[in-house]
Amino acid sequence: MYDAGKIIIGLVVFLALVSYPIWYDAARGDIPTSADPKIVTAEKECVAPTDYMKDSHMDLLNQWRDDVVRKGVRVYTAESGRKFEMSLSHTCMDCHSNKSEFCDECHNYAGVNPYCWDCHIEPEEVQQ
Ligand code: HEC
Ligand code: HEC
Ligand code: HEC
Repeated sequence: MYDAGKIIIGLVVFLALVSYPIWYDAARGDIPTSADPKIVTAEKECVAPTDYMKDSHMDLLNQWRDDVVRKGVRVYTAESGRKFEMSLSHTCMDCHSNKSEFCDECHNYAGVNPYCWDCHIEPEEVQQ
C-alpha cells in the first residue's frame, strides 16, 4: 500500500520548492502590490476625467492619432472646454514629463511595453 506519511512529506517539500521564488521575494519585500504612478504637474486635471484616463488612455491616444493622421484634425476640446493639441510627445508628456515614474511605473507593473517610443520622442528626464 501507499505510505501516506511519505506522500505528504513529499508534497510539502515539492510545494516549498515550486513556491520558492514567491516566498523568497515576499520575504525580501520585493513583490509590488500595486503600481504607484507619480503626478508631477502643477495642473489639477487631465485631458479627460481621471477614471476614464486610468482605464482608457490608450483608446484616447488611438483616437488622437486617427484624428491627426487620417483627418488632419489637431485640436482636442476637453469636457471643460479647454483646448489641447492632440500630441503624445507635446501634450501628454508636457504634463507627465516623468515618464519612468508615471507611464512606466504602471506599464511595468501591468507587463505592457507600448512601442510608441520607437518613433515618438520620449521626454528627457533628469536622473536623480
Ligand atoms: C494639462 C496637464 C495634463 C495633460 C496634457 C495630460 N495629463 Fe494626464 N493627468 C494630469 C493630472 C493633473 C492627472 C491627475 C488627475 C487627478 O488627480 O484626478 C492626470 C492623470 C492621468 C492618468 C491617471 C493616473 C492615475 O493613476 O490616477 C493617466 C493614465 C493619464 N493622466 C494619462 C495621460 C495621457 C495619456 C495624456 C495625453 C493623452 C495626458 N495624461 C495628458 C495632467 C495632464
Ligand atoms: C494608472 C496606470 C497607468 C498609467 C499612469 C499609464 N498607463 Fe498606459 N496602460 C496601463 C495599462 C494597465 C495598460 C494595458 C491595458 C490593456 O492591456 O488593456 C496600458 C496601455 C497603454 C497603451 C497601449 C499599449 C499596448 O501595447 O496596447 C499605451 C499607448 C499607453 N498605455 C500609453 C501611456 C502613456 C503615454 C502614459 C503616460 C503619459 C501611460 N500610458 C500611463 C496603465 C497605465
Ligand atoms: C512607426 C512609427 C510610429 C509608431 C511606432 C507610433 N507612431 Fe504615432 N505617429 C507616427 C507618425 C509619423 C505620426 C504623424 C505625426 C504628425 O503628423 O504630427 C504619428 C502621430 C501620432 C499621434 C498624433 C500626433 C502626435 O504628434 O502625437 C498620436 C497621438 C500618436 N501618433 C500616438 C501613438 C501611440 C499611442 C503609439 C504607440 C501605441 C504610436 N503613436 C506609435 C509614427 C508612429
